Amino acid sequence: MVVSVLSYLTVAVMSVDLGSEWMKIAIVKPGVPMEIVLNKESRRKTPTVVCLKENERLFGDSAMGSVKNPKSVYRHLQSLLGKKHENLQVALYQKRFPEHHLQEDPVRGTVHFKNSEEMQYTPEELLGMVLNYSRGLAQDFAEQTIKDAVITVPAFFNQAERRAVLHAAHIAGLKVLQLINDNTAVALNYGVFRRKDIDSTAKHVMFYDMGSGSTTATIVTYQTVKTKESGTQPQLQIRGVGFDRGLGGFEMDLRLRDHLARLFNEQKKSKKDVRENHRAMAKLLKEAQRLKTVLSANVDFMAQVEGLMDDIDFKAKVTRSDFEELCADLFERVPQPVQDALTAAEMKLDIEQVILVGGSTRVPKVQEVLLKAVGKEELGKNINADEAAAMGAVYQAAALSKAFKVKPFLVRDAAVFPIQVEFTREVEEEEGVKTLKHNKRILFQRMATYPQRKVITFNRYNDDFVFNINYGDLSFLSQEDLRVFGSLNLTTVKLSGVGSSFQKHADAESKGIKAHFNMDESGVLLLDRVITYSSSAFSSWQSFNKCLVKMYIHERLAFTKLLLILPICLPAKEEKDGDKSVNTEVEKKARPQKKSKISEEITLELLINDIVDPTADDLTSSKKKLQDLTDRDLAKQEREKTLNSLEAFIFETQDKLYQEDYQQVVTEEEQEQISAKLKEVSEWMDEDGYAATTKQLREKLFQLKSLCKDMFFRVEERRKWPEHLARLESLLNSSSFFLKSARLIPEDDQIFTDVELNMLEKVINETMMWKNETTAEQEKRSPKERPVLLSKDIESKRTLLEREVNYLFNKAKFAKPKPKAKNGTSTDKSSKANSTAEENVSPPIEESTDTKSESSEEKPSDETPSTESTLDSQSQPKEETATTGLYTTPVN
Ligand SMILES: *[C@@H]1O[C@H](CO)[C@@H](O)[C@H](O)[C@H]1NC(C)=O
Ligand SMILES: *[C@@H]1O[C@H](CO)[C@@H](O)[C@H](O)[C@H]1NC(C)=O
Ligand SMILES: *[C@@H]1O[C@H](CO)[C@@H](O)[C@H](O)[C@H]1NC(C)=O
Ligand SMILES: *[C@@H]1O[C@H](CO)[C@@H](O)[C@H](O)[C@H]1NC(C)=O
Ligand SMILES: *[C@@H]1O[C@H](CO)[C@@H](O)[C@H](O)[C@H]1NC(C)=O
Ligand SMILES: *[C@@H]1O[C@H](CO)[C@@H](O)[C@H](O)[C@H]1NC(C)=O
Ligand SMILES: *[C@@H]1O[C@H](CO)[C@@H](O)[C@H](O)[C@H]1NC(C)=O
Repeated sequence: MVVSVLSYLTVAVMSVDLGSEWMKIAIVKPGVPMEIVLNKESRRKTPTVVCLKENERLFGDSAMGSVKNPKSVYRHLQSLLGKKHENLQVALYQKRFPEHHLQEDPVRGTVHFKNSEEMQYTPEELLGMVLNYSRGLAQDFAEQTIKDAVITVPAFFNQAERRAVLHAAHIAGLKVLQLINDNTAVALNYGVFRRKDIDSTAKHVMFYDMGSGSTTATIVTYQTVKTKESGTQPQLQIRGVGFDRGLGGFEMDLRLRDHLARLFNEQKKSKKDVRENHRAMAKLLKEAQRLKTVLSANVDFMAQVEGLMDDIDFKAKVTRSDFEELCADLFERVPQPVQDALTAAEMKLDIEQVILVGGSTRVPKVQEVLLKAVGKEELGKNINADEAAAMGAVYQAAALSKAFKVKPFLVRDAAVFPIQVEFTREVEEEEGVKTLKHNKRILFQRMATYPQRKVITFNRYNDDFVFNINYGDLSFLSQEDLRVFGSLNLTTVKLSGVGSSFQKHADAESKGIKAHFNMDESGVLLLDRVITYSSSAFSSWQSFNKCLVKMYIHERLAFTKLLLILPICLPAKEEKDGDKSVNTEVEKKARPQKKSKISEEITLELLINDIVDPTADDLTSSKKKLQDLTDRDLAKQEREKTLNSLEAFIFETQDKLYQEDYQQVVTEEEQEQISAKLKEVSEWMDEDGYAATTKQLREKLFQLKSLCKDMFFRVEERRKWPEHLARLESLLNSSSFFLKSARLIPEDDQIFTDVELNMLEKVINETMMWKNETTAEQEKRSPKERPVLLSKDIESKRTLLEREVNYLFNKAKFAKPKPKAKNGTSTDKSSKANSTAEENVSPPIEESTDTKSESSEEKPSDETPSTESTLDSQSQPKEETATTGLYTTPVN
């Protein structure tokens, strides 16, 4: 298998391939390597949707079923993440889902859904609900709790969009091991299963992924590389990405839906315009989606919706060429991502294969156009177009988790959007004239690999200054893409304390200010720290080598930091010739000066220029909001469960009162009482039950159960007697037989003492007596009375006897066979008796650790008891004698 378990920590990890319409979930857990999670309907994919009803939430397929009230159904949430209210994509969303009321957040400029004053939700909160639901599905499937996840995002997600997904996961209480680009996850899955085919020759593969919401073309290079840590390993590198944010199956569905709406209006069966009716449009969308799928395999199809609007049925024939005409402009957009990916990769079409990914590549026209564009014989259909991303992501989750050992597969992802640092500095030109000079430094160029750390050094500053982190040259984006992209400015960084830091070490030479950046595994840019460096000749600073504390709180999620600065002093740089004792003036002059490097972390103020992150308070209140909804859902489920139990109890008990088992044990009076109470509660349910609280329902159930408890007990006991008595009987028989056999062992070979055998006899006698007396007593009683013969007593008597027999049985098993008297001449009887006792308490010899049947076969003695089937021989005599005085102890 691809993934093996490293430790037996019971930690499962999950992946969510979070598509705009569907999500696929996969898990890895010890013993279950890489598996797609089935949802409650046993399906392998789940709609990315939440339905918020007045008093409960629905998810997945049941949420999609709510066409009756489209306003309560929230979906395609990704397109709103990290977007301001004025963004083109928000307008498009509003157009596609006119039933929703999107409102601008006054602080962040983003949008939230306003259903009513009480019901307002941000896209992050709604996505958080969906993510928590996905976790619930994974947990049910894995049968354990899961906290860690790898979540996919489209490769074209920018910084604000990525952070929004992280916020959603945070609200859901998920720990994100990594946001992985969905195309990279697909490429990883592809590579992992073709590990053997990867060698030192670079192979280029293109993945063409058309999903519901967007399309991405990705060029990936596979080859083996040498690593320091683990030798030669396969690697994938993302070389070029081209994308179309709006090209996907959903737009096709909408075109078909609108076509159906037109056809319905043309049929003039209703005076109203169907397009004004959200519910009817939701029904048409559902039918359009079915239609698109059918038209992938058939040339025409009869679309139909019963009771579309005002009880009017709708029926119309749609052909594949109708469909292709409706989407003609969309199909024209198919080749562009391929071109863009090649341009980004600076490659010609020298790729081996073009592989199809994503559900919408099933549309025949898409394949036709793509095939022409890439000029290949055929398109690769050799991966699971739906599940490759979830599987690749869960492989990565296993690789990142400590609990699994996976074969290394190096992943070098690439930043789709370049990022640069900009700053403006006063420069002095001739004769004291000062002018401002604007500087740019590329931090991550287009297609720069990540994760990666970068350091930028500012050499010419000796006082506080400001620099900006912005996106770099995005001229490769279309005008429309740029409008959807949002702010081109990321963060303004204000440094304070630079001057005082340098002044503190006035004798030292400034070595510049370094800003340390990190683009992490998730493709999120972080500014780790900014540090001033100076170097000085050995001075009093040399002694500043004590315990210096550097403290900072790094709020990674929000890309903001609070820095509490204490000076830190890095150890002096390595001294060249190591002659530390000689430290004189003369030496200093004669040789290169020994330098001490002083570094100090600078306080930062970060101003976010793209989308302001939610504050810690915002996140806390979002979490609470979700938790309240979850609690409400759980309370509702609990109430339904209690209601069902109560109904079932009444129904079943009424039925039981007519069964013979019950009639036999119940008095007339008791029966009347129970019947009356059942009737009473049943009537109460019909009248007040619907409004009753869970507590009230529970109380009613409790009352009924208490009333019927004794009756049930009597029935239960009578049912258990035969089996319990039979088992006791059988043990009595076999232990008597054992006792008899043991007594027949010739004195020379005897391994049991008299005390032991008498003890066994006593227990047998007592048990038999108890059984005789108790059953006799029970027979005198009426079945309508509480029984005296109790199954739990029978069981405890049996256990007691069983232990006694087991003790002796094990003693026999672990005793060393003695030389046969016939053969031996030397053995003296009395010493034998003594040594036997000792051997009995010694640890079992090797062969004794084998199974029962084997060891009995090996025993030379014929006297081995034949009662094995009823006896448990796991315990050893030594333990038994040491732990308790209940059993007879071997004595001489
Ligand atoms: C997430 O779902 C689990 C059940 O799977 C629930 O116990 C938990 O409270 C939920 N968390 C939130 C924030 O809703
Ligand atoms: C974005 O950054 C550029 C360069 O730093 C700056 O000139 C421009 O004013 C910034 N725009 C905004 C809206 O902050
Ligand atoms: C009692 O045990 C013996 C020997 O194991 C067996 O032959 C006999 O059938 C058993 N009798 C009953 C009533 O179980
Ligand atoms: C067990 O019972 C038998 C007969 O019922 C009796 O002879 C014997 O002495 C009793 N043994 C013990 C140890 O009580
Ligand atoms: C128990 O009853 C059985 C059969 O009824 C009888 O054979 C046996 O001797 C009795 N044993 C005791 C200890 O009363
Ligand atoms: C006794 O046992 C030994 C070794 O096991 C064997 O050599 C010898 O012949 C045996 N003697 C008798 C009388 O069986
Ligand atoms: C056997 O044990 C008895 C009683 O403990 C003791 O008197 C006797 O000396 C022992 N014999 C040997 C050979 O150890």
